[in-house]
Amino acid sequence: MLKAVILIGGPQKGTRFRPLSLDTPKPLFPIAGLPLIQHHIAACTKLADCKEILIIGSYTTTTMAPFISEMQKEYHIIIRYLQEFTPLGTGGGLYHFRDQIRAGNPSAFFLLNGDVCADFPLKELWEFHEERPNALVTIMGTEATRQQSVHYGCMVRELSTNAVTHYVEKPNSYISTLINCGVYVCSLQVFHTMADAFQRKQDGFYNGNGQGHPGYMSWEQDVLAPLAGTNKLYANQVSNWWSQVKTAGSAIYANRHYLELYRERLTHAPCNIIPDVYIHPTAVVDSTAVIGPNVSIGAGVRVKAGVRIKESIILNNATIQEHALVMHSVVGQDASVGEWSRVEGTPSDPDPNKPFAKMDNTPLFNNDGRLNPSITILGAGVVVPPETILLNSIVLPHKHLTRSFKHEIIL
Ligand code: GDD
Ligand code: GTP
Repeated sequence: MLKAVILIGGPQKGTRFRPLSLDTPKPLFPIAGLPLIQHHIAACTKLADCKEILIIGSYTTTTMAPFISEMQKEYHIIIRYLQEFTPLGTGGGLYHFRDQIRAGNPSAFFLLNGDVCADFPLKELWEFHEERPNALVTIMGTEATRQQSVHYGCMVRELSTNAVTHYVEKPNSYISTLINCGVYVCSLQVFHTMADAFQRKQDGFYNGNGQGHPGYMSWEQDVLAPLAGTNKLYANQVSNWWSQVKTAGSAIYANRHYLELYRERLTHAPCNIIPDVYIHPTAVVDSTAVIGPNVSIGAGVRVKAGVRIKESIILNNATIQEHALVMHSVVGQDASVGEWSRVEGTPSDPDPNKPFAKMDNTPLFNNDGRLNPSITILGAGVVVPPETILLNSIVLPHKHLTRSFKHEIIL
């Protein structure tokens, strides 16, 4: 039997994802028509041996409850949300809930960061892990550019065995282009290593500076780094599509890839479609609209005559009025784009000319305090009047605009 644990952080995390996370917690933000972490759940449930999924975070149980019960109904396996009383770090939460994870004595558990998206090769990872009886943790690894690698966990491995000999989390200078994807297979014995790490943290807390929370532990720094070089930590390098979801722009990028993976499920075509497109069955789309590529349209959305939408996510119950154009944008729930208006952003995809390039995850503002060009975002309930242009702008929820804007954040 196998289990899976998904780490989702809490309201304090995901700041670069604002303002999209103002209305919906980031783990529940819909990508290709499904909440971000539903993609993780779907991947786990494809393994017949996976019997339970535990989601660990510091969002309130009330925030997560409707999603959890929906998932239980859809996938018919045990899915539970475990709330941390305070953010305990990537390792602290895992250690705190160790008894829940160990219950039933699973052969191993998958550990997945909630803020990545991928064509998760879980079966392949599990087989790799199983072939190495002394492995406590197998890390899914991928190749990055030299320049970008330092923003991730970097690993050096012994090529013949794939054992990780050196692990540094977000190093200051270049170490390796093999990076940690935030997807792991762990044997239960890893909790012994974690107990030692926890003890060291406690000693440091009570006998040292006493800063932070005593239960706080970093999975990467306190567990993975010390395991390197002990022949208990392995890296399985894969070439599957993988990306982090940190900024709003990366949601559009992830949308494209998930749409491609789920192509077979996208059969509903009420208008002229340029694949890949997902349209929720309850959306009402005029037959003269042209939609795609890379568009997801949520429940209850209305798309009127002559509309053009590409590279965008339109959230539930939004309305796109006649002949409006929406490109490289996210239109929030209940928002409305007026007739003949143009809502346009700048794509922020990885550089297609650089092999292994990832998303840049640039912050919202540059050093001069100006908005970095990115996708355009309309918060929930925003109203864009007819015949206006909105370019590279972010509009916070419930604003009723009265004119055009370029490169602005509208508070
Ligand atoms: N439950 C819980 N509690 N989850 C947490 C906490 C916490 O206190 N802090 C972070 N998380 C979750 C986040 O929601 C995210 O899904 C995951 O743990 C990783 O969190 P970050 O702290 O944001 O790390 P990162 O994404 O910058 O880097 C990690 O992922 C990279 C791959 O995406 C590291 O593991 C890197 O080594 C790795 O390359
Ligand atoms: P494709 O037609 O998708 O190959 O793109 P393109 O290079 O012709 O132009 P673009 O991607 O900018 O626009 C896509 C479609 O939207 C084109 O058919 C344009 O005529 C149409 N379009 C562009 N701007 C507007 C606009 O402001 N309003 C409306 N309704 N349509 C527009």
